[in-house]
Parts: sequence; C-alpha cells; structure tokens
Amino acid sequence: MAEPRRVLFVCLGNIIRSPLGARLFEHKAAEAGLAEKYAVDSAGTGDWHVGEPPDERMVRTAARRGFHYTDRARQVKAADLDSFDLIIAMDPQNKLNLETLAQNAAQRAKIRLMREFDPQAGGDMSVPDPWYAGPNGFNDAYDIIERSVEKLLAELEAGRVTPA
Ligand code: 4NP
Repeated sequence: MAEPRRVLFVCLGNIIRSPLGARLFEHKAAEAGLAEKYAVDSAGTGDWHVGEPPDERMVRTAARRGFHYTDRARQVKAADLDSFDLIIAMDPQNKLNLETLAQNAAQRAKIRLMREFDPQAGGDMSVPDPWYAGPNGFNDAYDIIERSVEKLLAELEAGRVTPA
C-alpha cells in the first residue's frame, strides 16, 4: 500500500471552514472506499481559537444535512509545509499568509485555493468567512466546501492534482 496523500485544509480561525473541509473530505473519501489513501488535517493561520472545537453554528448546519463531526483547533506551523503534500487555503488571504510562512518554492507549490476546485466558483476564489455573516453564510459556506471537496477528491483520484 502506498503512503497516504497528506492534505491540510487551512482557514483563519480553524473553527469554521477548514475543520469542515477536512472532515468532509475524509468522510467522502471513506464513502468511496478510499479512507486509506488520504491523511487529512486542518489548521488556522491565527491562534485565537487553539484548542477549541468547531463553531457550533457550522456543526448545526452540517447536522441538518446529516453530517456529524468534531475537531480541535490548532495553528498552522512552518513544518506543516514540509509534512503535508497538498495545502488547501480557504481564501486568498489565507493563501498569502501560508506563502509568507513558506521558505522555498517546493513548499509554495503545494498551496492551492479551495475554490479552484469549486465548479460553481465563477471567478470568486474565496470560501466566504461566515464569522462575519448571518445564518445564510453558514449554509453558503457549507455548499461551497462540499462541492469543492468532492471535486478535489475526484481530481486527486484522476491524478490531475500534482503537488510535490
Ligand atoms: P474560520 O472562521 O477561519 O473559517 O475558522 C473564523 C473564525 C474565527 C475568527 C475569524 C474567522 N475570528 O476572528 O475569531
């Protein structure tokens, strides 16, 4: 068995967008019988919520759709850029912060945007941060994240995502 592909999802606080991205990707991979092929985690560029579980507004949004998950927030660290094969940023600001943390071109080449994989992105490259939005923000972010992780998994399986 080949080593699992290591995929890290990154947002700002690591309590709303990236924990959902990681756990939903993991869930979709498991449903497809691909659990062994992927090792998934998430992290935040900020440290305000380290140690906290996912935001309960997104947990409730997911539960209404039948998806249940939990996690524990942590801050991204420079070593993540070596130990993960692919790093998925939720918005361009997260990507910029990761690129600042990167120390070489190989690390930078691993960093991609979530919405590159959203078939309905239409040029909008952010998974909008629901922290500043109303209830619809959580539904919208969930939909974007679900579409994007499904496509990301399909693209990885098709060999069309080729990080370092
Ligand atoms: P996330 O959302 O980056 O999707 O986890 C946020 C959570 C908390 C804050 C900002 C964004 N905050 O400012 O504390």
